[in-house]
Amino acid sequence: MAPKVLMVCLGNICRSPMAEGVLRHLAQQKSITLEIDSAGTGSWHVGDQPDVRAIACMKKKGIDISKLKARQFHANDFHSFDYIFTMDSQNYRDVVKQTNDSELQTKVDLYMNQAFPSRNQNVPDPYFGGDEGFEQVYEMLVNASEAFLQHIQQ
Ligand code: 4NP
Repeated sequence: MAPKVLMVCLGNICRSPMAEGVLRHLAQQKSITLEIDSAGTGSWHVGDQPDVRAIACMKKKGIDISKLKARQFHANDFHSFDYIFTMDSQNYRDVVKQTNDSELQTKVDLYMNQAFPSRNQNVPDPYFGGDEGFEQVYEMLVNASEAFLQHIQQ
């Protein structure tokens, strides 16, 4: 069965839909079958499409994320996904505290640990900044996604 991957950030309108789009794009290029979704720990943007700046940044790279719709992370997601990747350490804490099952908690990790194991690097929130923040997020997500795809191919 295809591995199931959930990307998680705060609003599910900037970083995690970008992560979903980047990983889907790179997996398709490499003919790796994955099921990928994204969610936010917060509820403010439920039902919204990604931030216009995230859509524009990704469009420049040839990736269309305009059809994605934000949803909130739910404890059921621990059972529906094999990997739950959070964009920053606050998202990590907010996800992990939603279960007492230490086995399920091991599904959760910071996404950047794929590229730089144990460094616990955050993907910075670009929401309150300029367009260059989205470019930086994109580059980081490509790094992490390339590393993740290498790991699951081994
Ligand atoms: P994201 O960015 O977590 O990368 O989707 C944010 C989007 C919205 C808000 C914060 C972060 N907000 O406060 O509404």
